[in-house]
Parts: sequence; structure tokens; C-alpha cells
Amino acid sequence: MSQPLSRSWQRSLASGLFAVLIISPCLGTGCSTFDSARLSSAEELQTQPLSPLPLRALAQQRRLQIGTAVQVKPLQQEAPYRQILAREFNQLTTENAMKFRVIHPEPDRYDFTDADQIVGFAQTHRMAVHGHPLVWYRTQPDWLTQGQWTRQTLMPVLKDHIRTVVRQYRGRVQSWDVVNEAIDDQGNLRDNLWLRVIGPEYIAIAFQEAHAADPKARLFYNDYGGEEVGKKSDAIYDLVKTLRDQGVPIHGVGLQMHKTIKRPLKFDRIHENFQRLQALELDVRITEMDVQIHGGQGNLTQKLHAQAQVYQKILKLCLNAPNCKALTVWGLSDQHSWIPEFFKRSDAPLLFDSVYQPKPAYNALKALLQ
Ligand code: XIL
Repeated sequence: MSQPLSRSWQRSLASGLFAVLIISPCLGTGCSTFDSARLSSAEELQTQPLSPLPLRALAQQRRLQIGTAVQVKPLQQEAPYRQILAREFNQLTTENAMKFRVIHPEPDRYDFTDADQIVGFAQTHRMAVHGHPLVWYRTQPDWLTQGQWTRQTLMPVLKDHIRTVVRQYRGRVQSWDVVNEAIDDQGNLRDNLWLRVIGPEYIAIAFQEAHAADPKARLFYNDYGGEEVGKKSDAIYDLVKTLRDQGVPIHGVGLQMHKTIKRPLKFDRIHENFQRLQALELDVRITEMDVQIHGGQGNLTQKLHAQAQVYQKILKLCLNAPNCKALTVWGLSDQHSWIPEFFKRSDAPLLFDSVYQPKPAYNALKALLQ
């Protein structure tokens, strides 16, 4: 797990210096086409003190969902976790609670315990819920991965799973990652159980089932590494365009946005991607944003500033894109990030540090929203 971060950046923030540092008009690369009059000018932002309002109030004014992935354990056990969730965010995503292995652990048994807690919390605090994910190749139960399936036997499993889960939360979950990570890094359909046994049409079937179970829910295809136009995002584009052309009920693309300060982003290419999806009348959501600082240049303060800039620029892109509806970060605090466990090293990729103090990235989002 990551360690609490130094407080030096907080002191610089308090002095007002930080706001000036992070909000220069052309931060790093890619200060290009996505600037617009919808945003305050850089000068205004520099001189404004940070708003005392929480993120969610500022986001609400711009009709933006600002969200985070939620884990059940800290939701149950940590009061600050609950307080910050309710205060700062107007949207929650179920980080693990709706994954197949968790919600459908045996062929004839669903377990909604964890998901109910998150959805219940969201209802109490008037937050939107994004359900994640209905179909994915990871976190599947053994009964599924080790079963001897034919097309005839697996098809009803796929359909029943989607119908049951979506129906359970009809009217309470507003949007879904229907299919997650179905395209591999070469831009081909990913080899997985669904593709092998059912064939490529498992994707269209998943969307149709989800739509039948809740016609009002907004349905997304979600993936990583497809943010900038390029091989993978071209494949995602082709997939969603084909679905659209076939009349399959799909409403948007989720861009996970797991990033690092080590590799500069090409913001104009992300902008281009947003635009071509808008031309298909598809929404975009930033669904799982985090920005690793490991391996970045400079001392910790500099790394956190670099991280803040990435968050701010992505938010700026989203605010400027009429089809971008949400920015969701993948975890509340650095203590809850999946990155240290997954990459086996400490990092600090989120908006709050591991003792729940807001980081420069948090302030950078606020400065842009206010
Ligand atoms: C991750 C969770 O954050 C971890 O807690 C879990 O152990 C593994 O999965 N892409 C996704 C998410 O779509 O579901 C993954 O979440 C992170 C990568």
C-alpha cells in the first residue's frame, strides 16, 4: 500500500502559490484546439481563491457527473471514506461489487449484498450509479471458466446474467459498462470465453439484453488504451459504429484513462476521438481515471503537480466536449487504489492521499470547475 504523502505541497497551496503554478494557459504539451470560451480565462482562475464548495456542487452546475469507484469494505468501515464520497461526488461506480464472480457466484445463485450497499448509499446521497461491468473476461467464477460450454448452453447464461443484474437495479443504476475490454492491444476482438463459444455477436446480444431489461439505462462499451486516436481506438470506433449501424442499443464509449505522468498524453488526439464519437451521436465517459506518478521526473512536489495537470487537462477536454458526460476516478484515496496491488509497487494516483487529504490534482479539478 502507498504511504502518506509529504505535506509540503499543501503548504504551498495554502499560500496561494499552487493555484498560480498549475493553471497556466498552456500546460505542457497539447495546448491546442480544445480551449474554449466555456472555460474561464487563465487570468481569472489564477486570481480566484479556491471555492469552498465541494467538487460535486461545482460539477453539478456544469451538468457533469464527477464520480469515483467504490469498494464495499471501506464503505462499511471508514467514516471519512463515507463522508468524502457523499460530499465530493455525485456519481459512484461499483468497483468490484457487480463483477461476475461477486454477483453471480454459482450457476443458480446471485449475491447482491455488496452491490446493494453501494447502490443504497448512492440513493441516500442522491448520486448517480454507473454499473460495472456486465460482460468481461476477468473476475469470472470457476463454474463459468471451467464449464464445458456449447453455444446453446452458454447463450442462456449470458442472457440470464445480464437480464437478472440489470433488472435488479432498474431505475437505480442509470448507466452500465455492458461490455468491458473486448478488444485486445492489437485491435482485434479479444480471445475470451464469450468470443470462442458464442462468437463476435456476443457483444450485440449483451447490449440488446441490457436494453430489454432496462430501456432507460444508458449503455456503454468500456475499454482502456483507446483514449487517443490510434490502433486500439480505431478498433473501438469501428466496433461501436458497426453496432450503431446495426441498430444495436449502445449509447456511448467509456474511456478508462489509466495513465501515468511518465508518458505524455496527446490531448489533441483524445479530443479528436471525442469528436468522432460525437459524430456517431455517442456519449463519452472517462470511466476509471488514475494517473501514476511512479517513474516521473522531479521530486514529489513536481510529480504531484504534473499529475494535477493531467487531471485538469482531461477535465478540460471533457468540459469542452458536448458528448462527455462524466469523469470518474478509479478509487477515492491513494489508500484504495488498485495500482499498488496490480503493479506491485507503491504509487499515489488519485485525488486524495492515503490519509484523505486533498492533493494538487483535487485542487486542479476544482480550480477548473469553479
Ligand atoms: C480492478 C479493481 O480496482 C481491483 O480492486 C480488482 O482487484 C481488479 O480490478 N479495468 C477495469 C476494472 O475495468 O474493473 C479494474 O478494476 C481495473 C482495470
